[in-house]
Amino acid sequence: MACSYEQTLADLRDAVPGRSPEEAVQVAMQTLQDHHPHYQWVGIYVLRGDVLELGPFVGKPTDHVRIPVGRGVCGTAVSERTNQVIQDVRAVENYLACSDTVRSEIVVLLWHEGQIVGQIDSDCDDPGAFSLEDETFLRGVAEILAPLVAQL
Ligand code: SME
Repeated sequence: MACSYEQTLADLRDAVPGRSPEEAVQVAMQTLQDHHPHYQWVGIYVLRGDVLELGPFVGKPTDHVRIPVGRGVCGTAVSERTNQVIQDVRAVENYLACSDTVRSEIVVLLWHEGQIVGQIDSDCDDPGAFSLEDETFLRGVAEILAPLVAQL
């Protein structure tokens, strides 16, 4: 079901009350994929010390369950403290392949009380699938999820 980003944010806010942080984050990942099919793989990495650990996700299992800060698109987002919007992962030297078919990736950091607590990561097989509009949308998602991810 394609949905406006605004509607999805409202649905995510409604989905949090009454759920455990783990369950609410898992439901949020499923909602993102259901409402916006270009989020073909979408998941949360939780920052613990200098390692990103895979949390709730939707899509094929990945080998990258622990990513050191500074490695790959995910680890670079943390070391540079900036979101990443990658149009074609084949141009990224540092890229950690989740699957050979992935072409674009977006990573938006989760900030809580002035600290990075994790990130939202999404992959798509189409090149250029993610825009600045997706980044703005995922910043909104991050505001909802960061306090929950801080409890995982
Ligand atoms: N591609 C990411 C690794 C995570 S998987 O895609 C789910 C990276 O380069 O950090």
